[in-house]
Amino acid sequence: MSKQFDVVVIGAGPGGYIAAIRAAQLGFSVACVDDWKNEKGGPAPGGTCTNVGCIPSKALLQSSEHFEHAGHAFKEHGIDVAGLSLNLEQMIKRKAGVVKQNNDGILYLFKKNKVTFFHGLASFTGAATAEGYPLTISAPANESISAKQIIIATGSNARALPGADFDEKLILSNTGALDIPEVPKKLGVIGAGVIGLEMGSVWRRLGAEVTVLEGLPTFLGAVDEQIAKEANKMFTKQGLSINLGCKINKVTKGDNNVTVEYDNAKGEANTAVFDKLIVSIGRTPNTNGLGADKVGLALDERGFVAVDHDCKTNLPGVWAIGDVVRGPMLAHKAEEEGVAVAERMAGQHGHTNFNTIPWVIYTSPEIAWVGKTEQTLKAEGVAYKAGTFPFLANGRARALGDTSGMVKFLADANTDEILGVHIIGPMASELISEAVVAMEFKASAEDIARICHAHPSLSEATKEAALAIDKRTLNF
Ligand code: FAD
Ligand code: NAI
Repeated sequence: MSKQFDVVVIGAGPGGYIAAIRAAQLGFSVACVDDWKNEKGGPAPGGTCTNVGCIPSKALLQSSEHFEHAGHAFKEHGIDVAGLSLNLEQMIKRKAGVVKQNNDGILYLFKKNKVTFFHGLASFTGAATAEGYPLTISAPANESISAKQIIIATGSNARALPGADFDEKLILSNTGALDIPEVPKKLGVIGAGVIGLEMGSVWRRLGAEVTVLEGLPTFLGAVDEQIAKEANKMFTKQGLSINLGCKINKVTKGDNNVTVEYDNAKGEANTAVFDKLIVSIGRTPNTNGLGADKVGLALDERGFVAVDHDCKTNLPGVWAIGDVVRGPMLAHKAEEEGVAVAERMAGQHGHTNFNTIPWVIYTSPEIAWVGKTEQTLKAEGVAYKAGTFPFLANGRARALGDTSGMVKFLADANTDEILGVHIIGPMASELISEAVVAMEFKASAEDIARICHAHPSLSEATKEAALAIDKRTLNF
């Protein structure tokens, strides 16, 4: 006898668990199914983000930054550290603890919101009946359930390089990259995207010699060109070897190392031998075991679940959100879609604004942006004004001892509406929120320039960059 719910959410990543909670808040009876297992085989809700993504990467970024500061930056502050050493086992253990706190937090939230959680793989078994869509759940739950409304939030997996499958010992996806037991002497990274730069930074700070091989001739093509250029300069100065325009020809595993044969940007043949190789060349949507064919769920040509603007699939009552559908693969985008879908199911007008989704790369300095880049505005023929302000001229940044980078505003030349904000520098991940709020409210650069910002704070650089649009900075 199958258990019936109003709504079944498949996947408890940031998209799925948030959708389940919002649906429960709106009065639906909700089940959420997730198959992620912790070390002991128990449930580990939170998906890629919590288990092998956002959370553990940020834990290691923080720990490795402390290590680097203790070794290099403290001296300038008058703090001498004698006998500094790395306890990598403890660093990894702490990261695992942070992950577990988040897993447990989600189980608590399910209880609090009366969401029924099932641990196992959920699969469609056939077309909808009067009871809704029938689903089976594998062990350990071993259940049959059904619902008229289904939210698919099954996420994504790391894309492998053809001929170089992940073994998570020598050739690492994000999963292995977060769990290297010993700092590799030579670390190779294929792909200078978000994961490559974040994980490359972690292991460089801990002592690895890191070589990044990127296929495209441009560095961080989606980032504003001025900011990307600055980032390339800074990361190279820190010691990351960033090689653009590389064509990977062959990856060969040895007993304890990996050999990568590639052509560099000039077309010259190169061979590099690494102790470990991280492959971070993007992610693919995950519909494994979902039974899409059994129910006639349409996928697009790239394997994503096909959805319209409102996250509706081709099946009535079946929705899909997050990494498994089009759009940026970001946790907060998945969450926004989850809330919007739950509200649409309840007859409300849930909304996701793709123009104001912030992006953050958690390197040091951090890179964060929202809206359009200068190169996009140029390509679109939009008349714009640009204003920048360097952290070098910000009192709080000087006190922190971190004056790298800048804030950059782009505003419509005629209306002064903010079209994009780009930040490279300390706490960019936090500073970008002000720009997101401003753009949501269709603010002008003048609006930000007229708002009182606390002194001394990094946010004053945001105000000054808005003033720079009109060439009237006060501190530069
Ligand atoms: P997921 O988080 O992938 O969750 C899907 C869940 O569904 C998984 O638990 C999966 O096991 C489960 N599942 C799949 N199929 C089934 C099934 N049939 N039955 C039951 N369960 C199933 N994004 C950010 O915004 N900020 C960051 O800082 C950030 N850092 C990242 C760092 C790394 C190293 C990586 C890899 C990603 C990072 N991301 C970050 C991206 C972010 O993790 C994803 O965008 C986000 O996890 C997508 O959420 P989701 O809910 O769509 O899917
Ligand atoms: P990515 O799309 O950010 O970068 C992949 C890079 O690999 C690109 O620069 C691409 O040109 C390059 N590439 C592709 N094929 C290649 C090849 N054969 N040889 C050499 N280079 C090649 O993907 P990444 O880093 O794997 O991350 C996946 C996604 O996860 C990100 O796009 C992002 O959505 C999410 N993420 C978000 C984070 C954040 O918000 N801070 C952190 C980490 C991941």
